Amino acid sequence: MRMTRLSALVLAAVTMAAAAGCGGGGGGGGDTGASAGGAGAGDGKIVMGFSQVGAESGWRTANTKSVQESAKAAGIDLKFSDAQQKQENQIKAIRSFIQQKVDVIAFSPVVESGWDTVLKEAKAASIPVILTDRAVDSPDTSLYKTFLGSDFVEEGKKAGQWLVDQYKDSKDPVKIVELQGTTGSAPANDRKAGFGEVIKADPKFEIVASQTGDFTRAKGKEVMEAFLKSTPKIDVLFAHNDDMGLGAIEAIEGAGKVPGKDIKIITIDAVKDGMQALADGKINYIVECSPLLGPQLMDLAKKVVGDEQVPPRVVTEETTFTQEQAKEALPSRQY
Ligand code: AHR
Repeated sequence: MRMTRLSALVLAAVTMAAAAGCGGGGGGGGDTGASAGGAGAGDGKIVMGFSQVGAESGWRTANTKSVQESAKAAGIDLKFSDAQQKQENQIKAIRSFIQQKVDVIAFSPVVESGWDTVLKEAKAASIPVILTDRAVDSPDTSLYKTFLGSDFVEEGKKAGQWLVDQYKDSKDPVKIVELQGTTGSAPANDRKAGFGEVIKADPKFEIVASQTGDFTRAKGKEVMEAFLKSTPKIDVLFAHNDDMGLGAIEAIEGAGKVPGKDIKIITIDAVKDGMQALADGKINYIVECSPLLGPQLMDLAKKVVGDEQVPPRVVTEETTFTQEQAKEALPSRQY
């Protein structure tokens, strides 16, 4: 086939760009290629595509703020996309980041399964991926460089252990209702598993109802209202996050019961509103899950773009709060 003058010029331009290392990602050192036809504005900054789960909870809002502020502080050009709790939106966002030739992709997978195809596309484009906050269940760990976030199983275990300790002197049955996080998400699966593992040691503990509240306050309220109607005796509520617990408190008060007394409440996160309810006696115990992942994420991003070794798993440090500890911690709580 004869080559026209125009196609010859296009071919020459593409070849020159490739020779200049255009395309970023994977192993090219600090020069991201953003200035040579990739995503960046040509200022040599690392370009990160970040796909956030959504804005379902106070935790998520704090996490988004942490990522955005840390990117700015680290001089990383952040392309932020909100998936509104939909996996299909996250897959679209990741494909768009690949097309834009960002240097690194970070995302918090809304659910655990179904990521292999798109992650293979990122790998084929030599764009490193960092999992942040939530994990994927793919056995192929070469599809991402590292996973930064909490140990959700451990969080569930801490919640269960508090309950076991509280009722250690009682022989009566303890009826528990559970508000699960988003179905299929790592925190919902793992917190349920960790909690269940600890309480199963004593048969007096029984989960009498368990349903998803999708990590939102509105759904937490709605599902707790249904639990209160359908379940004659509830001693304890275990909510997989503060927001669902706060919604449930409204439902419990609406039913003429006293949260924290008639029904003991354990939640996870320790965001300000949750800590306030804990200090007010409406929640009994909170297991912390830190949303302040931004600074560590930016450090890891710089390393993977620079082809440095990073640990495959970075676990967030976290604590727990009783009502008294919440009163002390509240004034200096950042989120
Ligand atoms: O993945 C972290 C969880 O997601 C938080 O516990 C919850 O509040 C959020 O929506």
